[in-house]
Amino acid sequence: MKVYKTKTELSGHLSSLVSSEKTIGLVPTMGALHPGHTSLVNRAILENDVVLVTIFVNPTQFNDSSDLENYPRTLEADLTLLKRLKVHLVFVPSLEEMYPEKDQRTFYLDNLDKVMEGKHRKDHFNGVAQIVSKLFRLTNPTRAYFGQKDFQQFVIVRRLVKILDLDISIVACPIIREEDGLAMSSRNVKLSAAHRKLAPFIHSTLKRATQKMDLLSPEEVKTWVTSQFEKQPDMHLEYFEIVEDKELRPVIDWKEKVNKVGCLAVQLGGVRLIDNMNFD
Ligand code: PAF
Repeated sequence: MKVYKTKTELSGHLSSLVSSEKTIGLVPTMGALHPGHTSLVNRAILENDVVLVTIFVNPTQFNDSSDLENYPRTLEADLTLLKRLKVHLVFVPSLEEMYPEKDQRTFYLDNLDKVMEGKHRKDHFNGVAQIVSKLFRLTNPTRAYFGQKDFQQFVIVRRLVKILDLDISIVACPIIREEDGLAMSSRNVKLSAAHRKLAPFIHSTLKRATQKMDLLSPEEVKTWVTSQFEKQPDMHLEYFEIVEDKELRPVIDWKEKVNKVGCLAVQLGGVRLIDNMNFD
């Protein structure tokens, strides 16, 4: 496994692959790797000749400086895991390497960034578009892998590739859950023991909500989910929306012939958790 810190070194390696027509699978991460990332890497290994994992905690997608400071960083353990998984290349750039100058770009993302996460994390998706577009331009992968836990991010990156007219296929990988249902996330380690015990309530509420589709309209399911979280004094539901998976428009009627996804964000003891589930 080769670990590169600079764009020049990485580009040098990648250009030798282009001439031999090798397919490249890119797994962009912010580190603090967990089994969700392992599933992305394993899928990338199955589908590509060469797998490149990037580890970079991207400041431009954080709208809260204490969230950025507290984001878990476990580089040594991450590299050990990636070596065990037989990843070929790892890119671990510094802040100066990725942003030698302030990135002034504003992306128009067809308003997909204005709902759900976008309403609660101002400019978050512009920051994601900045770093992902830089990584795509630098590495020109055949495929790039994203977890479905960050459903809105996946939808936006898929659109970004269209907007930028890039020939990269964006692969979504299923959410990996703990045994008790909590969606795996780098942020889970920040939960206190007591809050960790409460956290599976998020998944179980989503699951129970899907079971209400025969009786309740989408709007009524939304009200029901909100009422469940109101009974949890330690949890604050930021939003729950049931949207279709292309334009992220709210679903009004279950009869609509679209893929429906229920998405939420919850604050639990200062840790922000997101999750989602298909409502089909
Ligand atoms: O999902 C993440 O970890 C990040 O948003 C990403 C895609 C690596 C961009 O920084």
